[in-house]
Amino acid sequence: MKVLISAGPTREKIDIIRFISNRSTGKMGYALAAVAAELDWEVVLVSGPVSLTVPDNVRLIKVESAAEMAKAVCAEAPVADLVIMAAAVADFTPIQSYDYKIKKTSGNLTIELEATEDILFTLGQNKPEGQVLVGFAAESENLIANAQGKMRRKNLDWIAANDISKAHSGFASDSNAVTLLSKDGKKIEISMDSKKNIAKKIIEIIR
Ligand code: CTP
Repeated sequence: MKVLISAGPTREKIDIIRFISNRSTGKMGYALAAVAAELDWEVVLVSGPVSLTVPDNVRLIKVESAAEMAKAVCAEAPVADLVIMAAAVADFTPIQSYDYKIKKTSGNLTIELEATEDILFTLGQNKPEGQVLVGFAAESENLIANAQGKMRRKNLDWIAANDISKAHSGFASDSNAVTLLSKDGKKIEISMDSKKNIAKKIIEIIR
């Protein structure tokens, strides 16, 4: 069983010392990688910048930007039996970045952003026969409807819907609660627990 998991935030460069990112810590993706490795599955973890210990028996590919994550994930995905995109990929990146420090000038600074590639959408478009493709949906409103929309649009088999408006759930937290939805209409509530236990339940259900 070959598994590809993405985790963590991405960093979109503004200049040599500044970037745009998000609050993802990578804990959910690393927990999924640990659980998959404990099952003796062959695990590749594509990770944005995080400060976590890499689980045993996991092959780590470190990336920074959404573009680097897209390249690494798309290179590994064709041979994977299971792909789980747990990374919080930036949706926008500066159109221009600088190899020096932008100096303070009088007045405001405008940074123009362009959309990044939707990696999961690309994976869904190129999904090999038999591959199971899983996404996460971080939602602050209309949790189920928005997650179902993402699952359909991105051609996923499962989506783990995360209500990020609730305390201790999802982003930058040790615990999580998810609703796991399948393309054939299953709806499974996984109640608040540690990310390791949530990962165990997700893997148990989708395997
Ligand atoms: N994702 C991705 N590439 C992106 C953005 C998101 O692969 N550029 C993946 C995430 O890893 C996640 C899923 O798409 O598995 C949903 O991410 P989410 O941030 O919830 O949704 P978006 O598609 O970015 O849509 P929106 O920001 O409008 O909610």
